[in-house]
Amino acid sequence: MREQELKSQIKLDKLPQHIAVIMDGNGRWAKQQGKPRVFGHRNGVESVRQVTEACAELGVPYLTLYAFSTENWGRPRTEVDALMSLLVETIKQEIETLNKNNIRLQAIGDLKALPPSTCEALQFGIDNTANNDRMTLVLALNYSARWEITQAARTLARQVHSGALEPEAIDEQVFAGALTTAGMPDPELLIRTSGELRISNFLLWQLAYTELYFTKVFWPEFRKKHLYEAILDFQRRERRFGKISEQISQ
Ligand code: IPE
Ligand code: IPE
Ligand code: MG
Repeated sequence: MREQELKSQIKLDKLPQHIAVIMDGNGRWAKQQGKPRVFGHRNGVESVRQVTEACAELGVPYLTLYAFSTENWGRPRTEVDALMSLLVETIKQEIETLNKNNIRLQAIGDLKALPPSTCEALQFGIDNTANNDRMTLVLALNYSARWEITQAARTLARQVHSGALEPEAIDEQVFAGALTTAGMPDPELLIRTSGELRISNFLLWQLAYTELYFTKVFWPEFRKKHLYEAILDFQRRERRFGKISEQISQ
């Protein structure tokens, strides 16, 4: 179906309030065309633009993109370096467009452990888009959910140790407040491209009741119409949250 036709079928009053994306398949896409892996990463930037624009146009308030996992440090040095430079380049390039479209940039992950140039570019982007309020674009960078949960536990333990927090006061809300996603709604829809059926250490706490959507499309080929297809699929589902169907349809 054509892009516009798909878009017109989306119910705007039933939009996911937060979409998270595991952008996967850049390397395989490049290999398919006999090109180096980095070619795939470079082409993935256009997909980021398309998805960001499509979400902003529809009115999705939060979009989180998994851009670099803690585990990705284990890749060949040349690929890691290329990814870090691409990040710096892209953030610098896109700030103007983000401001034009009233989009705020945020980041989650162990940001302090990123190379200084990446960290600075990111902070510059965050500071210069801080007042935008149409949509929040969250980049997960040097992110891993187990790291995030561990650091949250450590933060709370310190507060208990210092007497600022009673152990009994730790409930789900307090715990969620110690995660890097504090203040953001949990994702309602998770999209993973490239056909892999796993979470790869992404948002383990926040995905507890998220609808999962997997597509074989490689990230550099992912376009607005693919996002619309994912949202339409999401809107056809019945989210029961442990209850039964009859209770939901009331
Ligand atoms: C996703 O594509 C981008 C990052 C993880 C940074 P990949 O680089 O994982 O591509 P494949 O999975 O090897 O095809
Ligand atoms: C997940 O993709 C991380 C990002 C998209 C940034 P990977 O390609 O690193 O995941 P695995 O290793 O195949 O699970
Ligand atoms: Mg991959």
